[in-house]
Amino acid sequence: MDEPLLSVCGLQKRFLSGGAEIHAVDGVSFSIGRGELFGLVGESGSGKSTVARCVAGLCRPEGGEIRLAGSFQMIFQDASGSLNPRMTAEELICEPLDILRRGGRAERRERARELLGLVGLGEELAGCFPGGLSGGQQQRIAVARALAPDPDLLLADEPAASLDMSVRAQILNLFLRLRRERGMSVLLISHDLAAVRRVCGRIGVMRAGKLVELGETAEVCGRPRHPYTQALLEAVPVPDPDCYRASGRPPRGAAVWL
Ligand SMILES: Nc1ncnc2c1ncn2[C@@H]1O[C@H](COP(=O)(O)OP(=O)(O)OP(=O)(O)O)[C@@H](O)[C@H]1O
Ligand SMILES: [Mg+2]
Repeated sequence: MDEPLLSVCGLQKRFLSGGAEIHAVDGVSFSIGRGELFGLVGESGSGKSTVARCVAGLCRPEGGEIRLAGSFQMIFQDASGSLNPRMTAEELICEPLDILRRGGRAERRERARELLGLVGLGEELAGCFPGGLSGGQQQRIAVARALAPDPDLLLADEPAASLDMSVRAQILNLFLRLRRERGMSVLLISHDLAAVRRVCGRIGVMRAGKLVELGETAEVCGRPRHPYTQALLEAVPVPDPDCYRASGRPPRGAAVWL
């Protein structure tokens, strides 16, 4: 088997907060192959972002090993906070290309405009500053910026959280397309389990710093072994009006998404 693009082994990360020690990541191991979309799900505070931040080198782990055989870019969970408010959308998208000295000025501008289109934004937004954009528009600028240098691995921390369902699908389809066309891999962190199931071949489920489940998406979702995964699956709403009308209760259960 080919060497994975990313391999994380026995990752440990603790934080000191208010005098108490928080074991944010406690022995997490997984790998992502080239051209693979790997989903990381789990309750709030379970350590998902910390895993991504450790992979990106933004957190220094106390233990474990991370091996990455390629380039990466990160979409931060707080997309708006990750954008310099003094730079226009076009400058923000071009910045990674400027740093990497990719192409000439005109080429970079053209690439920025192409990316604006790919994330569903019009070219007229190229000159806007983040403060003049909606939360969803800022999030899409963050996606475009991360994709600009064509990374081998995209660390996508809730990349579509503040987007409506159609734009969310557009972004996920874009990831699938880039995997198909360029062999890009994605670590997709999301609370949207339905979306993760749709696009990721394998998933890991985190709880309290540990990976409680790891495997093929169909296997994990079809036969969840851990009670937490079962609870997570049961909490996914089903968009089935008949089911809703018949029961009179909000729809629950995940089978319809398969
Ligand atoms: N810089 C930090 N200092 C102190 N504690 C931190 C820091 N970053 C994360 N933590 C703690 O580590 C734990 C894991 O946080 P993390 O942000 O990784 O969770 P998460 O799974 O991404 O949650 P969410 O789904 O809400 O984004 C939490 O208890 C959090 O409070
Ligand atoms: Mg997070």
